[in-house]
Amino acid sequence: MRCRSASAGRSESDMLRPEFAAALAKAGEAHTLAREEIVLLLGAEGEEAAALFRAADQVRAAHLGPEVHLRAIIEFSNHCARNCLYCGLRRDNRRIRRYRMTPQEILAAAHRARQGGYRSIVLQSGEDPGFALDDLARVVKRIKETLDVAVTLSLGDRSRDDYRRLRDAGADRYLLKHETADPALFARLRPGTTLESRLERLRWLQELGYQVGAGSIVGLPGQTCETLAADILLLQSIGVEMAGIGPFIPHPDTPLGSSPPGSTDTTLKVLAVTRLLLPHTHLPATTALAVLDPDGRRRALAAGANVVMPDVTPAPYRQHYAIYPGRSRPQGEGEASFARWERELRAIGRQVGTGYGHILRRGSPRGS
Ligand code: 5AD
Ligand code: SF4
Repeated sequence: MRCRSASAGRSESDMLRPEFAAALAKAGEAHTLAREEIVLLLGAEGEEAAALFRAADQVRAAHLGPEVHLRAIIEFSNHCARNCLYCGLRRDNRRIRRYRMTPQEILAAAHRARQGGYRSIVLQSGEDPGFALDDLARVVKRIKETLDVAVTLSLGDRSRDDYRRLRDAGADRYLLKHETADPALFARLRPGTTLESRLERLRWLQELGYQVGAGSIVGLPGQTCETLAADILLLQSIGVEMAGIGPFIPHPDTPLGSSPPGSTDTTLKVLAVTRLLLPHTHLPATTALAVLDPDGRRRALAAGANVVMPDVTPAPYRQHYAIYPGRSRPQGEGEASFARWERELRAIGRQVGTGYGHILRRGSPRGS
């Protein structure tokens, strides 16, 4: 999808259009834009795109510094009760080999990640009612007691009581992507659920004291540039501490298997505008970007991103967490290596964040 009408009719090497330059300046200074102004920025090409990425990089540098937070993801179960049209873990996909790690395996993977240098662990799964909540709460508690790491959960829709119990067990953060801000598209792509109930859950999570992450997929069939602008405005209105923004990658064993993939460029523009409007929010250079473009993570880190989430799920499970093709090891076998990420980040003038990588609130001193 391109967010620019053909009638704009200017070559990519043109200078910035005055209205574009005005919107970019406003975003960089006031961190607020109207929906039409966001659409205008998303239509950046050539010089305008370069200027947008530069502005986002400057806002990132000014508010968050050179630090990139590394969060180790453990994908502990690929069972899912939902049937999202875009996702390889969907219930009706019979071609996937399902697995569920044991609590001991999860703890061992978390220990290894901590030993390797990570100070932040993400436990992710499909919506798996087969993983007992008590077990999960015990795993979280044990990790928090023994490892001195921040714990993020990404387990999809659960009851408020489940969220409360996991928070009581010590979980710090919860990722629950809103996927798309278009309610009709949401309901079509996620049968049996509504955007409204998703947003209600995000409110519960905030009330319970979690640092909350949402985010969206870019390039879903039926999405428009207005919807992408609405995604960004929604993130701003929720006041998220994190936002994961990645391109759509068709999975052959899903109903959307023959739809075209999202565009890396459009995804980077959505990321960059999000950085301009949410200067303090943690924005990962998503795995999906790295899958579509070998240089995708580096490009994202130069367009506003300040987080990388390497997959540390142990073999043989890792390859079966096939949300979309190519996910299991975008950087090859070194993907999980903290030391390798340290080197790679240093090579692009950045450094690994120290501490847990909690959000910095407006007005708080710079630190970790
Ligand atoms: N392409 C890109 N992202 C996807 N997700 C699920 N399926 C796809 C896909 N085909 C993302 C969703 C979900 C997370 C687990 O993975 O945003 O929240
Ligand atoms: Fe399940 Fe999440 Fe995939 Fe939907 S996107 S099928 S809820 S894992």
